[in-house]
Amino acid sequence: MLNILDEIKGTALASLQEIKNEDDLNQWRIKFLGRNSELMLVFSKLSSLQKEERPIVGKAANQVKKSLEAALIERQEMIRQANLQKSLSSDKLDVTLSGRRIPHGRLHPVTLTLREITHIFADMGFQVYRSREVETDEYNFQLLNFPPNHPAREMQDSFYIATQEDRGDNPILLRTHTSPGQIHAMREYSSKNPQNPPSIRIILPGMCYRYEQISSRYETQFTQVEGLAIGKNIKFSDLKGTLSDFARRMFGQSVRTRFRASHFPFTEPSAEMDIECFLCGGTGCSVCKGTGWLEILGCGMVHPVVLKNGGYDPEKYTGFAFGMGPERITMLRHHIEDIRYFWANDLRFLEQF
Ligand code: PHE
Repeated sequence: MLNILDEIKGTALASLQEIKNEDDLNQWRIKFLGRNSELMLVFSKLSSLQKEERPIVGKAANQVKKSLEAALIERQEMIRQANLQKSLSSDKLDVTLSGRRIPHGRLHPVTLTLREITHIFADMGFQVYRSREVETDEYNFQLLNFPPNHPAREMQDSFYIATQEDRGDNPILLRTHTSPGQIHAMREYSSKNPQNPPSIRIILPGMCYRYEQISSRYETQFTQVEGLAIGKNIKFSDLKGTLSDFARRMFGQSVRTRFRASHFPFTEPSAEMDIECFLCGGTGCSVCKGTGWLEILGCGMVHPVVLKNGGYDPEKYTGFAFGMGPERITMLRHHIEDIRYFWANDLRFLEQF
């Protein structure tokens, strides 16, 4: 019996040395210390031994059990340490490496231009006035002095929401320009004090919609920034001064401006402002098509009919208005040749700003 115990101990300890992982270790425990192991067989046979042999064999079997259990725990610890070392060296963490860049969202190029325009006019004392995108024909055209069959009205093909059939001669449409906001603003301001309405200095940024054939130059959806100044004794020279100053702040202090006569039903006189081409300095290039000038905005003195429609007496008040397209300005500044990029949501385009 004692020999068998010695043998069990010898084989168990020898095979334990070979074991490298927890699974095998568990197998080993079942084989040498489990209920059906040879060692447990020895314990179960104790009762069949002679009386004087029993304590000797029993003691020896207990010792073998204890030393196998101790060896098991030791081996277990060794394997744990080895595993730890292995994962430490394979999953090396270099805390001195620079981190991975987290991609940031950014503002749309047109939003950036819009903010710049807003800042410049804010510095000049203009407040932002928000006006609706869904308009009536009355506000979008009639109150702005577009007669029913005025040719300028056909210039602006519109998206109608409620048609002539439903609403007679006042259909609902998506605004084709930000100018109807002029009427909303003037009516709001003048209603505060109809006898002596306050002066106005606002810009009206926002989305406009036209039923256009989409191309590299036309989109059905675009932004505009409208401007409106109403007061006593506002002159055309104020318009020129304000807009020339805006051009210098926006495009550079040395930039020259010129005003060309134009026509809008809601301003009289009307003009378009050009700036000297900032790409070629006025000598002529592909962007200014050889003219040396870039058209930036439409403007004019608010038409007396429009003043009256807004609740301002044209005998006492005058004012100027202007409208510009931030997409166009952004395109000129960054050499963008296709307006469709602004709505394409292509990250390769948007990430450049
Ligand atoms: N509303 C005009 C347009 O859409 C621009 C404009 C605004 C012109 C104000 C003069 C005064 O083209």
